[in-house]
Amino acid sequence: MTTAIYPGTFDPIHRGHIDIIERTAKMFDNLIVVIAKNSKKVNLFAEEERLKMLKEALTHLNNVDVIFTSGLLADIAKKKNAVAIIRGIRNSTDLDYEMPVAQMNRKISGVTSVFILPDEKYSFLSSSIIREIASFGQEVSEFVPENVALALKEKFLK
Ligand code: COA
Repeated sequence: MTTAIYPGTFDPIHRGHIDIIERTAKMFDNLIVVIAKNSKKVNLFAEEERLKMLKEALTHLNNVDVIFTSGLLADIAKKKNAVAIIRGIRNSTDLDYEMPVAQMNRKISGVTSVFILPDEKYSFLSSSIIREIASFGQEVSEFVPENVALALKEKFLK
């Protein structure tokens, strides 16, 4: 059985992430989506909110699980016997950022990172852009699953 892990902050998950998850889920027996901490980011949605949103958005994929970690990704990769750490690469800036991270993750865990190009129709998306336009009341259901669009509306109504 091959297991891959796909980490990110997913604040919130959007259609670009789902595209990567759907394609990766076909390549491995199991895919574990790992909500992890990027120490440089301040999050809009709490861990439990993101966990719930991701689980709801991925119910159509029966070999995909969602977990949260506050620890090192390399530790989770080892613990889950992962054969690959999946990252989406939108452009050369993403690649420059991801290369040393992938090398460090491999050094600590022995697990190789696999880079996947998102569908070009999602290559301009990012969670922060979605949060930004949603905060002004802009409709975002073209970019995120329906449950996430609703959660964003509720968050910014408060
Ligand atoms: N299409 C479009 N956009 C995408 C995308 C896709 N397929 N995949 C990611 N993005 C966007 C995201 O929306 C996000 O946008 P934002 O910056 O506006 O939030 C951006 O690309 C990067 O997001 P993400 O993939 O979630 O990465 P991240 O940098 O937020 O997460 C972690 C990085 C959490 C995986 C990393 O910090 C980590 O591994 N943390 C655990 C601690 C650890 O092990 N640290 C040591 C690492 S060596």
